[in-house]
Amino acid sequence: MSTASLTDRPRTDSPQLHPGLEGITLATTRMSRVDGEKGSLVIGGYPVEEIAPNATFEQVVYLLWTGRLPNGSGLDAFRNDLADRRRLPELAVQALREAVGRAAHPMDALRMAVAVADWPEDPAPRSGFDPSALAILARLPLAVAAFERFRQGQEPVEDVADPSLGYASAFLFALTGASPSEARVRALDTYLNTVVDHGLNASTFTARVIVSTRASLSSAILGALGALSGPLHGGAPGPALDQVVEIGRPERAEQVLRAKLQAGERLMGFGHRVYKVRDPRAEVLGRAARLLFQDGSATEQDRRLFALAQEVESVAIRLLDEHKPGRRLRTNVEFYTALLLHGIGLPSDLFTPIFAMARTGGWIAHAREQLEEGRLIRPRLLYQGPVHPSFP
Ligand code: ACO
Repeated sequence: MSTASLTDRPRTDSPQLHPGLEGITLATTRMSRVDGEKGSLVIGGYPVEEIAPNATFEQVVYLLWTGRLPNGSGLDAFRNDLADRRRLPELAVQALREAVGRAAHPMDALRMAVAVADWPEDPAPRSGFDPSALAILARLPLAVAAFERFRQGQEPVEDVADPSLGYASAFLFALTGASPSEARVRALDTYLNTVVDHGLNASTFTARVIVSTRASLSSAILGALGALSGPLHGGAPGPALDQVVEIGRPERAEQVLRAKLQAGERLMGFGHRVYKVRDPRAEVLGRAARLLFQDGSATEQDRRLFALAQEVESVAIRLLDEHKPGRRLRTNVEFYTALLLHGIGLPSDLFTPIFAMARTGGWIAHAREQLEEGRLIRPRLLYQGPVHPSFP
């Protein structure tokens, strides 16, 4: 079907309403395919189970931005471009310091920093990518790291521009000032790859709407960050971890979860609007968490937490089947996201900013795709107010 026939609907006095735009197809895409019945997710042409645990985040972003995996020199140019931009503009540093002083929410702080992320004059890109896209992608993790360090009473880590540091390791280095273990870097790459893109979710739609007006890429990313911050989108991964911690011991899982269901509460990390089977991202992140928590550097406490989470998952599925027979409420992406990011050593209120680091790769790819498509996004509303013949 042509784009024009999807968007140029004839004017009518009684248009069909689509609350939430559910069931509306906006455009074609080559970024990701989500199949909620089969529980499959394809990212840039590869099943998430294949690409997420095996690729680096830079490879996946390159794939989404260009439609092909990078060769050696293409990847080097991209990595060098990112490394060249790994320093925060002074204005962003000031904004983050001020945000911490005012106890701002991390996502609000991030918006302030991203607003000026592409202001400095940078060297010409070697990869051929848009300088603004490179600046935003490279500096967003530095902003998250600097925010956390200010909160801990520390200064940002200097000298993170070493091109041998990948995206995930540069972030962990900027956060802690120490070289991260390979297991942590692999776990973070797997997480970032798993959530880089997921169809036309609210933040991706926001980014596409904004660039469709020919506004700047930076405006699109700011809008997308705002959309992502809401609790119905990216704002609620922490509670899934809180729930596991609250249960505390495997033998308490049934009693605590049953009480929650009886009280009408929802079990965090279960159920999904699109997936009617286990979210494929939960599978990938569950495996990544297992690898991380079995790594030699994992503590006994971490290992116990992972075993507890597995018990919580199986009890929750059993109780949800009893509670809502036929509804097929299964584990969603949030459950193992929380566990994996906690295992990497990240504080739970940074989970959404770290989700944003991943999605920025996807948002930029969608912005490019939307501009190629070129059509201003402009749905209509049905007016249902009065019409007075004169004023007043
Ligand atoms: N625990 C208990 N009951 C649930 C759960 C749950 N996790 N999820 C759905 N239900 C129940 C609902 O109460 C509803 O019951 P009702 O028909 O008696 O009202 C029924 O199952 C159907 O639920 P819906 O809300 O229609 O399911 P929907 O597909 O709209 O909601 C959602 C999906 C919001 C994710 C929901 O499953 C939920 O709230 N889960 C818990 C929170 C969570 O894990 N959020 C992260 C989601 S992942 C993501 O969005 C990236």
